[in-house]
Amino acid sequence: MTARILNGNAIRDQIYSELAAEISALKAAGIQPGLAAVLAGENPASKLYVNSKIAACGKLGLASFLITPPASISTDDLLAVVDELNRRDDVDGILVQMPLPHQVSSKKILDALDPAKDVDGFHPINVGKLVAGQPSLAACTPSGVMEILRRSNIPIEGSNAAVMGRSDIVGKPMALLLLHANATVTICHSKTHELKDVVHRADIVVAAMGRAAMVTPEFIRPGATVIDVGQNVIADRADALRIFANFPEKLETFRAKGSVLVGDVHPDVVNVAGAFTPVPGGVGPLTIAMLMSNTVKAARMRRGSSAPVAAAGKS
Ligand code: GUN
Repeated sequence: MTARILNGNAIRDQIYSELAAEISALKAAGIQPGLAAVLAGENPASKLYVNSKIAACGKLGLASFLITPPASISTDDLLAVVDELNRRDDVDGILVQMPLPHQVSSKKILDALDPAKDVDGFHPINVGKLVAGQPSLAACTPSGVMEILRRSNIPIEGSNAAVMGRSDIVGKPMALLLLHANATVTICHSKTHELKDVVHRADIVVAAMGRAAMVTPEFIRPGATVIDVGQNVIADRADALRIFANFPEKLETFRAKGSVLVGDVHPDVVNVAGAFTPVPGGVGPLTIAMLMSNTVKAARMRRGSSAPVAAAGKS
């Protein structure tokens, strides 16, 4: 069996075209939604991520504001930055790129965000609303996974779902979103007994442990849907040869670039799964799409409209 590929780029494009229409409608009503991104310090990966987020705003017609405090900023000074953004009327969404410099208390910063502008969905108020099943700003990556499942017509209600990983950013909110969609959800983690057997019972597997190619074909029930949230850089030749033994084009990428990306799911799972998200080009594109969607949603909510956002109003 060869699995159906769930194309994240195509789903992202669909969401962008719906959002662009919605943003035009908001602008026609005199509303210009805006996102502020706070990038503290010089972390190269964070710079890349934030630049992609700002570029997406430009593409969709959202206003964007980039704030770049130095790596030496104190918690108090960053709190003052957040406070100003909380007050600004032209800012609907605020994202503080993680990780923050080591001397800054991430918890204090996240707790200081106005929950109505917390487009990452990290604030305890938004986490609590997600638990309670109230409309809220939910974490972007798990929201993106739900969009992939729904738009690919993967049945969720009544299904057994295994979420591998229990992070605050992915595993926990993912489990709650699946639960609200009436899946029977098991959250697995590094201490789970009989992990393979537990995952093998699942119709939907979401792999988000951050362990390169850990989910091998024996974990997967034939025909299951496998969603791979992992993004791991393989820079070791022996690792690349072992993981991609059956994928010459990936080995070619490794030869050309000196590294290759792999998810938390082993590529051989393609021979067992019914459907799967590739890495790259699966879940990744949805994370920024949902950030854009949350910014538009925040703009509507702040102005008292509860009408659903075209792409993501199902939370
Ligand atoms: N760092 C890694 N992922 C994320 C994310 O989704 N949001 C923010 N703010 N920082 C991150």
